[in-house]
Amino acid sequence: MPTTAARVSSFGTTIFSEINDLALQHRAINLGQGRPDFDGPADIIMAEVNALNSGQHNQYPPGIGIRSMRQAVAAHAARFYGLEVDPEAGVIITAGATEAIFSSILGLVDPGDEVIVIEPYFDSYVPNIVMANAVPVYVPLRPPDWTFDPDELRRAFTPRTRALLLNTPHNPTGRVFSREELLTIAALCQQHDVTVISDEVYEHLVFDDARHIPMATLPGMFERTVTVSSLGKTFSVTGWKVGWVFGPSALLAGVGRAHQFVTFCAHHPAQVAGAYALNLPGTYYEEFQTMYAAKRDRLLRGLSAAGLKTRAPEGTYFVLADFSEVFDGDDLAFTHHLITEIGVACIPTSPFFSPQHRSLAATQVRFTFCKTDEMLEEAASRLARLGH
Ligand SMILES: Cc1ncc(COP(=O)(O)O)c(C=O)c1O
Repeated sequence: MPTTAARVSSFGTTIFSEINDLALQHRAINLGQGRPDFDGPADIIMAEVNALNSGQHNQYPPGIGIRSMRQAVAAHAARFYGLEVDPEAGVIITAGATEAIFSSILGLVDPGDEVIVIEPYFDSYVPNIVMANAVPVYVPLRPPDWTFDPDELRRAFTPRTRALLLNTPHNPTGRVFSREELLTIAALCQQHDVTVISDEVYEHLVFDDARHIPMATLPGMFERTVTVSSLGKTFSVTGWKVGWVFGPSALLAGVGRAHQFVTFCAHHPAQVAGAYALNLPGTYYEEFQTMYAAKRDRLLRGLSAAGLKTRAPEGTYFVLADFSEVFDGDDLAFTHHLITEIGVACIPTSPFFSPQHRSLAATQVRFTFCKTDEMLEEAASRLARLGH
């Protein structure tokens, strides 16, 4: 009798599919998944349409990505972060950040190696590590500040530590790690000769005085860091699933060996549009941040009027909210209540933690503000019914 592999036996259905189904069933306003309900910029979409129509971009591109897209990734890293990235041997275009992270783990981590994961974490990280036959080692961020304890982080490093998975700006807490926090992580990675896989998909979603600092810009870190990002968040085209990884050629060689047998290449026409998008002038990025800062404030007002306690996120398009003053129960029960009784969907935070640290966020749920202002207002008026 054919059976499924033991490798995947511990994987449940991703929380996003579960919540999306429930939200649809109850016609809830979905502030769960980070999926904009508005379209990406018309000129970027037109760049893809033109690429499709040209008849030049509908077959396999080079596996590592088309040159113009790789050059655009390198130029973007130089323009925003002063990094010198080699577009020939130091960039690979992938099927979204998700594939970039998986190919990086497969290409840089051996079976039995330990990978440090900062919790709460994006839901693909741990299954990726497990599929690579490596071992996740968890270091939690703790409320209310959502920072790590440097001693706890230090203790997580062992002679078997091969890599550390970092995400800044951080989903779901909205933290943008400070230079001091990043320096603490960097020093330990250098001391223990550890590679950093740095997921920076929210690099352009930072607010107020916060500044995104790529791990690769810290002294001595470029050589041991692969940086992952994608078009999805920055250009509101999450469905295109085009991402990239850049870093030193010695590490990228390993990522590339895995990538060629995971997907081989990413969608070709979207790479043409991606090159156009990444090269847009600074005004695009400034207007994008201004738009999201207003949406963030709109959602924060709605949540606090409903009696939920929040901490304004420094980055990403997510807000964590503590519901303990309006609801008696855990995050899963609250999410269910909110969808079925109030008509608003959020995401529980416990699936972002390992079982041993799940209780840290038992009264927190995540809301996204990548929605039209009308949807955010409608959500706020529904949320006002909470606790009544
Ligand atoms: C932290 C983080 N990493 C990676 C991804 C996935 O990015 P992509 O859609 O480019 O695969 C997401 C999407 O929500 C995310 O939040």
